[in-house]
Amino acid sequence: MEEAILSLQQEINAFEIRNARDLEAFRHAYTVRKGRIAALFSQLKSVEASRRPGIGQLLNALKLTADEKIEAANAAFSSPTARKSQAIDLTLPGRREFSGSEHPVQKVLGEMKQIFHAMGFSIATGPELELDRNNFDMLNFPPDHPARDMQDTFFVTRGNPGGDVLLRTHTSPVQVRVMLDNKPPIRVICPGKVYRNEAISSRSYCVFHQLEGLYIDKNVSFADLKATIFSFARQMFGTDVKLRFRPSFFPFTEPSAEVDVTCYLCGGKGCRVCKKSGWLEIMGCGMVHPNVMRNCGIDPETWSGYAFGMGVDRTVLLRYKIDDIRLLFENDARMLRQFPA
Ligand code: PHE
Repeated sequence: MEEAILSLQQEINAFEIRNARDLEAFRHAYTVRKGRIAALFSQLKSVEASRRPGIGQLLNALKLTADEKIEAANAAFSSPTARKSQAIDLTLPGRREFSGSEHPVQKVLGEMKQIFHAMGFSIATGPELELDRNNFDMLNFPPDHPARDMQDTFFVTRGNPGGDVLLRTHTSPVQVRVMLDNKPPIRVICPGKVYRNEAISSRSYCVFHQLEGLYIDKNVSFADLKATIFSFARQMFGTDVKLRFRPSFFPFTEPSAEVDVTCYLCGGKGCRVCKKSGWLEIMGCGMVHPNVMRNCGIDPETWSGYAFGMGVDRTVLLRYKIDDIRLLFENDARMLRQFPA
């Protein structure tokens, strides 16, 4: 019996506890209820009565050594320096690095911004929560214009003393803000999210992105507008795109046009995406309406300007062959991982 105790004592002394795992193994082997120390204690009753107190003492000492060892290890592992050295456990599998990447919408927006930046445009932003006044009135929307209808606009508060508040339906209110805050010449682009209360489908969503441009200076003409858009389209969609300007209407521009590029998927031959027409609509544009300039304190006799506004998401869908616009807004990592940096 003494021999068994002695050899267990040596074993315990030699046991090296280097980390929490060792500690657990130690406890499990020696000090738990069914451990080896307990096993020796249970043999005590078969020991001759006269030798029992002596052996009992030896056993108690053994138990004490083991407990002290556990206590010391516990203290060491919970001190800050110990925890640091613990942090490197070479037996653990390696940790994989995940690198983020740009969302495809931001990628395309980035390219667009770059192109206009090189042409001398600076970037202006404004709030997504807008005043009805900036989103509609200042932009020369008549009070009964259908775009103000509840169908299209998410109103946030109505009957506010400071004016109704809504989620902007286009980036044009940023133009208003820029014109109110700056004297011409003005040359800005306004990228951002816009909101419309439309039926949601694979082709349209309640949120999307626009990039708007505004240029105001002396003697700005429609020819300047065309040249700028042409230069942009060649850089964005390829050097052999052709452009088509169709007369159109916006309350805030006069004259107004919608711009098509030759379908860059079929090269203008006609395909499913361009509905066999060979053309894709990319933006609305026009010369800034004199009323808008006056509303913003700019004299339309001295200054003239153009504005254009384009949707960003459709270009993203076509470029990356994504067939559902909702995928751009769901933040599903399985989708995003397909666009590594
Ligand atoms: N704001 C218009 C829209 O959302 C686009 C546009 C901007 C048209 C600037 C002309 C000039 O439809």
